[in-house]
Amino acid sequence: MLFSSPRTRRIAVINHKGGTGKTTTAVHVAAGLADAGHRVLLVDFDPQGNVGVWFGIEHERTVADLLLSRAEPRDVILPVRPNLDVVLSDQTLGSAQEALFHRTANDEVLRTRLAPISGYEFCIVDCAPSLNLLTRNALLYAEEVIIPISMEYLALVGVRQLVENILSVRRGKRHDIEISAVVPTFFSRQNKKSLEIVESLRGYFGAVVSDPIRLNVKLSEAPSHGLTVFEYAPSSNGARDYRKLVRRFEHA
Ligand SMILES: Nc1ncnc2c1ncn2[C@@H]1O[C@H](COP(=O)(O)OP(=O)(O)OP(=O)(O)O)[C@@H](O)[C@H]1O
Ligand SMILES: [Mg+2]
Repeated sequence: MLFSSPRTRRIAVINHKGGTGKTTTAVHVAAGLADAGHRVLLVDFDPQGNVGVWFGIEHERTVADLLLSRAEPRDVILPVRPNLDVVLSDQTLGSAQEALFHRTANDEVLRTRLAPISGYEFCIVDCAPSLNLLTRNALLYAEEVIIPISMEYLALVGVRQLVENILSVRRGKRHDIEISAVVPTFFSRQNKKSLEIVESLRGYFGAVVSDPIRLNVKLSEAPSHGLTVFEYAPSSNGARDYRKLVRRFEHA
């Protein structure tokens, strides 16, 4: 076969703090890139299984089956929108992690199991709010990370720890990984704290800090309709902000 498939940009959406907008960001970066004509795979790597809940879909084979070699990629990949496929997750991912504990190279399993998948320009991995073996697997798979950070008190606590984790994977495993976007989420111009936090993020991370995603009720309503915000409220601030974020990845 002379045609090689396009190289896949492997992006993990990560923050061990809960509720910072990881899933919302993963879904909209994936859906926005798919809308723009790119082939995208979105992998739910959180036992909460929020991606399936978002799109209102279920599947008997999940990412845990892929991880434990009980299923092959073709068994777990589901099309949800034009150009957008997903791999779902559920609570069995927790037991899959336990099953990996005593294996050698147990942090390279996701990378190995996703390796045969081709034909996607982007693979976006939505991580759980923890720094555990699963997160390490996501970091060793990804070559880029997106860190959504919510604009609230204590938002910055733990960010340094996350960055150290990323750097330790880079050094210890000689794995090329970079922070391609730090995304301020739940941003409100009326809230002085928001402006201060964005300022300190820019001081710490520099140009990788994206324009903020504003606090927008449409973003929280969209999943209960099984829709992305682009479909549910295309002219909302949430849709606008995520479209802008998507453009960063299209042109990077
Ligand atoms: N910009 C926003 N404005 C308003 N609501 C938002 C925004 N972003 C996310 N939400 C809502 O906030 C909640 C948490 O968001 P989300 O699930 O994306 O966070 P998460 O980091 O994935 O959480 P977890 O750590 O549990 O995986 C959800 O109910 C979501 O709909
Ligand atoms: Mg989530």
